[in-house]
Amino acid sequence: MDKNDMMDRIRELKKDRNAVILVHNYQIGEVQDAGDFIGDSLELSRKAARVKEDVIVFCGVHFMAETAAILAPGKTVLIPDSSAGCPMADMITAEDMVQWKKRYPGRKSVCYINTSAAVKAECDICCTSSNAEKVVDGLEGEEILFAPDKNLAAWVARTSSKKIIPWDGYCYVHNNIRAADVRRKKEEHPEAEVWVHPECPPEVIDLADRVLSTGKMVKEARVTDRSVIIGTESGIVYRLKKENPGKIFYPVKNTAVCRNMKKITLEKVFLSLEKMQFHVTVPPLIAERARGAITRMVDLV
Ligand code: 13P
Ligand code: SF4
Repeated sequence: MDKNDMMDRIRELKKDRNAVILVHNYQIGEVQDAGDFIGDSLELSRKAARVKEDVIVFCGVHFMAETAAILAPGKTVLIPDSSAGCPMADMITAEDMVQWKKRYPGRKSVCYINTSAAVKAECDICCTSSNAEKVVDGLEGEEILFAPDKNLAAWVARTSSKKIIPWDGYCYVHNNIRAADVRRKKEEHPEAEVWVHPECPPEVIDLADRVLSTGKMVKEARVTDRSVIIGTESGIVYRLKKENPGKIFYPVKNTAVCRNMKKITLEKVFLSLEKMQFHVTVPPLIAERARGAITRMVDLV
């Protein structure tokens, strides 16, 4: 089957199954093209909570599909590749979280959306890269536990009045973006602005003109009149170019690629709909507690 036939089959199957395809900004171009809605993790969470269709095919990594399953109880949530996980989310377990909170009694805990449902169930509130600062500042207490991304924690700590106690996790894709990569690109394109994701290390953030979640990059790209060096997973450049013909976006490095996001292919989306695979479910007790942490965030922002 060629790509066009596969797109046609996906459209037919979507109708047969009463399904919607949600796609993260880092997915490959042809998966983005097959999507009904593309967004960052906060936008996708919000969308999942409102879908009318019976089936959600989630093109992203596992914790995102879990979040959709938690926010859309009663819907069938499928992920086209069951091994598409997030290594940063795997850097903290629910048991780690429980022990950590015991070491710091009385502190509120914030977990980045890039965590398993079981970890979210142990936290006071969730956050994403687009609202972390607001979430932290909205909490009671002077010291806040923040897991798992130490780089996002450091970014929030720059402006927050709170003392942030970070977990020692990181995203291998963003952590591998180095100051030297940014300097090299700036030398090649001195006219361009630099936008980076807050999962990047502090020395990269120091070189950036703007620090933005993927969703905010998409919005700002619509209004900017500058060319931009993009310091995040390079899949987003496809969307930025497609939505802004004539504008110029340079990935900061071509190797800023999330292998896990890239496990989802058009063929796997098709197979997911055809075979109704792979189901993502969250045990009810964990889902209920994790939903509390997620809805507290969604209500706040
Ligand atoms: P966003 O919240 O910007 O979508 O980022 C999610 C992510 O996995 C970043 O690596
Ligand atoms: Fe996880 Fe990093 Fe991939 Fe985002 S880019 S899904 S944080 S490994």
